[in-house]
Amino acid sequence: MIRTNNNFNFLKGSYLFSEVARRVNEYKEKNPDVEIIRMDIGDVTLPLCKAAVDGIKRGAEEMSNKETFHGYGPERGYEFLRKCISETDYIARGINISSDEVFISDGAKSDIGNFVDMLPSNARIAITNPVYPVYVDANIMAGRLPEDEATDIENKGKIIFLDCTEETGFLPKLPTEPVDVVYLCYPNNPTGVVMNRDELTKWVDYARDNSVLLLFDSAYEAYIRDENIPRSIFEIDGAKEVAVEFRSFSKTAGFTGVRCGYTVVPFDLKVVSDNGKQFLLNNLWNRRQSTKFNGASFVVQRAAEALYTAEGRSQVTEMTNYYIENATLLYNKLTEAGMKVFGGKNSPYVWIKTPSNISSWEFFSLLLEKAHVTSTPGVGFGSTGEGFVRLT
Ligand code: MLT
Repeated sequence: MIRTNNNFNFLKGSYLFSEVARRVNEYKEKNPDVEIIRMDIGDVTLPLCKAAVDGIKRGAEEMSNKETFHGYGPERGYEFLRKCISETDYIARGINISSDEVFISDGAKSDIGNFVDMLPSNARIAITNPVYPVYVDANIMAGRLPEDEATDIENKGKIIFLDCTEETGFLPKLPTEPVDVVYLCYPNNPTGVVMNRDELTKWVDYARDNSVLLLFDSAYEAYIRDENIPRSIFEIDGAKEVAVEFRSFSKTAGFTGVRCGYTVVPFDLKVVSDNGKQFLLNNLWNRRQSTKFNGASFVVQRAAEALYTAEGRSQVTEMTNYYIENATLLYNKLTEAGMKVFGGKNSPYVWIKTPSNISSWEFFSLLLEKAHVTSTPGVGFGSTGEGFVRLT
């Protein structure tokens, strides 16, 4: 028989959103006339804004001309887009990030998954619980198992969960044992809670004091309306020495089907290998990307560039305002209905405690069958998500 990667044995049978989709489809097949309201996966519903479509057209036009056609592009992305990102998302906000610290990709999910290539095989990885399942699954695929399942910890590394509960306001506490890497995501997926400046500063200080790499997923930063909430981890002093930031145009500009995101790996972030050799993580990530990735499509990068024009920016704000209004409506109506609701502010996600302590999957079925609303069961995001569902 052909042998395979044993680590897959430790994954759950299917990816969370595939399982939700399977159950929803099964229900739809049995009840073809029922109109279902989708509030499960954080997908967008509005079409692309005009600026993005014009960007795609411009890119397609350039590709159709001998003089402006592009073949393989730079693996780290075209300078025209990296410059817009560095100037608009960072320098204009007082954060000194240069275009060469920005890497364009086909989305934050890929970069987050691929970043495990950069971690030592025996790394101790701290991950919040509940959490976006990609952080956990990608590490399991690389041989790092959750602490209670890890058998050969010395060689394989492990995952340590930082429980986030109602009591902690769904925020993690600093690890009590040594770790090498911490994944943070704010505004949070799945709970929708945000991290304020003091809280984030605590994590940056901790990372600097303990030589810990922070992998900061800020895919939902465009939903932050409160000026006191940091939109980037690089707003915090010293973060450039310890943090990598992942961002996406998916939830910002409705690019879930277009595919474009970016990762910022600052030049200040220095790493060391077991033989004492020092590197810039930026150079290592570039080495990784140039080996395994040929860059995001030129046309898509033109579409993303167009989001940075004045009209693009205002169209994007209009779109995110619409999703925020929906989240606010959900939050208010569910609260009025007597439910315990979290998130929903500065975030597209609303996190609800199930009534009468019924399980996440039971409430998922109840919502589907009685209200024809789909949700994502909290337990799918981790053990502490049991007794909750996420709506979006
Ligand atoms: C979610 O629903 O958690 C996200 O949309 C999934 C993703 O971004 O991959």
